Amino acid sequence: MFDPVTDAFIGGHWMSGPTRFAVTNPANGVVIAEVANLGPVQTVEAIDAAEKALPAWSALTAKARSAILMRWNALILENTEALAELMTAEQGKPLHEARGEVAYGAAFIEWFAEEAKRSYGHTIPTTASSKRMMSIKQPVGICAAITPWNFPIAMITRKVGPALAAGCTVVVKPSEETPLCALALARLAEIAGVPAGVLNIVTGTDAAAIGQVLCDDPRVRKLSFTGSTEVGKILYRQCAGTVKKLSLELGGNAPFIVFDDADLDAAVAGALASKYRNAGQTCVCANRMLVQSGIYDAFAERLAQEVGAFAVGSGSDPDTVIGPLINDEAVNKVEGLVNGALEMGAKALTGGARHDAGAQFFTPTVLIDVTPQMEIFSQEIFGPVAPLFRFETEAEAIALANGTPYGLASYFYSQNVNRCWRVGEALEFGMVGINEGLFSTEVAPFGGWKESGLGREGASEGLSEYLETKYLCFGGVQ
Ligand code: SIN
Repeated sequence: MFDPVTDAFIGGHWMSGPTRFAVTNPANGVVIAEVANLGPVQTVEAIDAAEKALPAWSALTAKARSAILMRWNALILENTEALAELMTAEQGKPLHEARGEVAYGAAFIEWFAEEAKRSYGHTIPTTASSKRMMSIKQPVGICAAITPWNFPIAMITRKVGPALAAGCTVVVKPSEETPLCALALARLAEIAGVPAGVLNIVTGTDAAAIGQVLCDDPRVRKLSFTGSTEVGKILYRQCAGTVKKLSLELGGNAPFIVFDDADLDAAVAGALASKYRNAGQTCVCANRMLVQSGIYDAFAERLAQEVGAFAVGSGSDPDTVIGPLINDEAVNKVEGLVNGALEMGAKALTGGARHDAGAQFFTPTVLIDVTPQMEIFSQEIFGPVAPLFRFETEAEAIALANGTPYGLASYFYSQNVNRCWRVGEALEFGMVGINEGLFSTEVAPFGGWKESGLGREGASEGLSEYLETKYLCFGGVQ
């Protein structure tokens, strides 16, 4: 494992901060590092540094920025094992998943380093013979990124990759649960030659105060946030004062629909992948398993068989499939939702309670006879629990699936091509997995409809979030 970098990173300097805060391993509660605890004053310093660095960074050619980003990408990949161990220690996910996240995270740097070289504007057919018209793309300016603990590398690179590639400078506020991966990324960026002030990392426990500074400062022209809808709405309101560009990747309540005509093996495999990755702590996790009557019992039995066999334990154990949840609050929430469902008549085919591997572990669970009246239908579970709801018709499944203010991810399994088109088009979600439980990739647009957010990350859309369009009109042409 890396010797964790524990100081914050502002203007190319490592800062120890006025106080420190503890980062613990969620598998055993052991303190693994004491990290710089910064606040509003240092956040302003980080914005100052980003402002100072902006003119030179944005003036580089896209190709020059790309070369630096490619070096950063290579360094991240070269350090996969150390980064994965660090991630497992602070976040808890199994090592094999952590390795996967390092590759996934690096891929955003590579993709946007390539993509920025092709951020074309347009020439516009003129409306007057004395004029010539065109549009060009320019960097938005100073950007702020507030990132979550569930993907402590990929959620940073997914924002910082396009921002830097576009010519923006960035202030990142990583989650206080997982600052070490963010700081390790910054260290590698420094080695790769990212100039001082282009990337700044403000670590700290007072997320509200740091966030307020980032939202209020008129020099920050864009905020990108991944996290809860509740906090996203606060940031949305706070950014109104300076009319910032916003990307919000917020909560989900993903339906996972299994129709009678599904391939049962594929549906079970997809459910396992979608539901239990990162112990169910992803925004795109299947949250509500909607299963048609004719296949309900067979699907439930097969799923419970597989889930009941999952190895639960510390992510550093190579056999572990399900690691700890991030903190006590997360375990309490999952337990409350499961107990609420059980009290109202649901049954646990497997699991249903905490796990004796430690205080922050919950046993992988499959619940049957769950109904939309139970709280678990409307809440994002963020834990290794699959509630199975029964439906009869396609129309009922679509109504149930869309019956949520959220619209991030959705999934369905059917072997009928007509149904695949119909349902794919009817679902009110930004992403639809059709006979597929894992769809995240740097090349496709990731983001939600409705209260799941604004904007897209990844793909060419992900770069345009960090670019302004400028219309140039040349007059007096003879
Ligand atoms: C998230 O949970 O916010 C991201 C999941 C992913 O990128 O697949």
